[in-house]
Amino acid sequence: MTKQYTIRTETHDDYAAIDAINFAAFDDDPDMPKMVQDLRVQFTLLPTQSLVAVGPDGTLIGHVMMSYAQVDGEKELIDVMVLSPLAVLPDHQNQGVGTALLSYAIKVADDLGAPLLFLEGHHRYYGERGFENAMELGFRRPSLRIPPKAFQVAKLSRYTPDMTGTLVYKDVHWRHGVGLYR
Ligand SMILES: CC(C)(COP(=O)(O)OP(=O)(O)OC[C@H]1O[C@@H](n2cnc3c(N)ncnc32)[C@H](O)[C@@H]1OP(=O)(O)O)[C@@H](O)C(=O)NCCC(=O)NCCS
Repeated sequence: MTKQYTIRTETHDDYAAIDAINFAAFDDDPDMPKMVQDLRVQFTLLPTQSLVAVGPDGTLIGHVMMSYAQVDGEKELIDVMVLSPLAVLPDHQNQGVGTALLSYAIKVADDLGAPLLFLEGHHRYYGERGFENAMELGFRRPSLRIPPKAFQVAKLSRYTPDMTGTLVYKDVHWRHGVGLYR
């Protein structure tokens, strides 16, 4: 099937549409748009850390965001990135939009110099799209409430095998339950 969408970084004009995508994709949960707004402001995210998928008529159909966290390693704190949320409008799901957003996000995180991109999600979906089980690579979950299989990571160019330790979320992540895989 011909690809019917493009991926680009967000602009200010996209904010309302991004809120609508996250609201609809997460079963009308009002906390998801709020989380996106707080992540954007409290981390002073670069526009490239928030990507949108644009449909053929110019409307936004998908969104992904990446913020910062740290791995508390044996020798030092390591700056890493966390991918959350990823959302596609229900009518546009299962058409490769989520996969395209993920692959673009991995490239952006790599270009920004992060060695690791963590997320919480379904192991089969993400496992087939560049992520692997983080615990098997020596990382500890930020919360014991995250199912071990859901704790996943993509290794990027700057990753080295001596990078192990505990993923530590920032305050804004906890406030919005990024640490609670649903
Ligand atoms: C999860 C989500 C981002 C996937 O995006 P998408 O564009 O629909 O997915 P793609 O078209 O790239 O991939 C389709 C595949 O994903 C699978 N899939 C869709 N939603 C899934 C989910 N919640 N868990 C596991 N697999 C899922 C489909 O079964 C399909 O599998 P296949 O490739 O074996 O046929 C999208 O369905 C969504 O927004 N869901 C609601 C919000 C959400 O759960 N976000 C993720 C939080 S971790």
